[in-house]
Amino acid sequence: MKFFIDTANLDEIKEAYDLGVLDGVTTNPSLMAKEGITGDENVRAHYKAICGIVDDKVSAEVISTDFDGMIREGKELAKIDDKIVVKIPMIKDGVKAIKYFSNEGIRTNCTLVFSAGQAILAAKAGATYLSPFIGRLDDIALDGLDLIEQIVHIYHNYGYDTQVLAASVRHTLHLIKCAEIGADVVTCPLKVITGLLNHPLTESGLAKFLEDHAKASGK
Ligand code: E4P
Repeated sequence: MKFFIDTANLDEIKEAYDLGVLDGVTTNPSLMAKEGITGDENVRAHYKAICGIVDDKVSAEVISTDFDGMIREGKELAKIDDKIVVKIPMIKDGVKAIKYFSNEGIRTNCTLVFSAGQAILAAKAGATYLSPFIGRLDDIALDGLDLIEQIVHIYHNYGYDTQVLAASVRHTLHLIKCAEIGADVVTCPLKVITGLLNHPLTESGLAKFLEDHAKASGK
């Protein structure tokens, strides 16, 4: 399973990359706004900076919601760096744009996916990645992990190439369950990735090893 980090914060991206387990980055307009990145020039420069940190697969989201606008914006984003994946919302013109980019050989990430029907449409249009949002479904008392399982099953039935990129991952259990289900990728905040390190028995075990070593060495 691949790990993407879901942030536009350069320090967090560097920290995850330095850990040696990062496969890519996803951003969205809210995450860019959180970092105070606005204006075409600044946005482009920020994506370039992200691409300078990681090896590949940096999702950059279009703001337009009409076909022509998404094509124009997506082409501009794709020009920034070969590592860019154009992120397109799951709307009617978005599906057409995914098909267009697929024919052009430009990678896409279909975002804001909340149903199996939307997942089928995106795969048929040729999306490279599909982003179903787990946490936001959980927020409205539905089970986001059930959706991941359903989509993985459907994609397996038909051998679709589209990779399931589990998004809106809020905690380590989400990530571990996605691994059990067989999601291709998870994207999550840094704290979810580093949270995988934690176990109280690891901490107490290490403390004891160091204590015993110190005693034996007469320290
Ligand atoms: C996915 O690409 C989105 O950026 C993200 O995972 C949304 O997560 P949230 O629901 O925690 O905002």
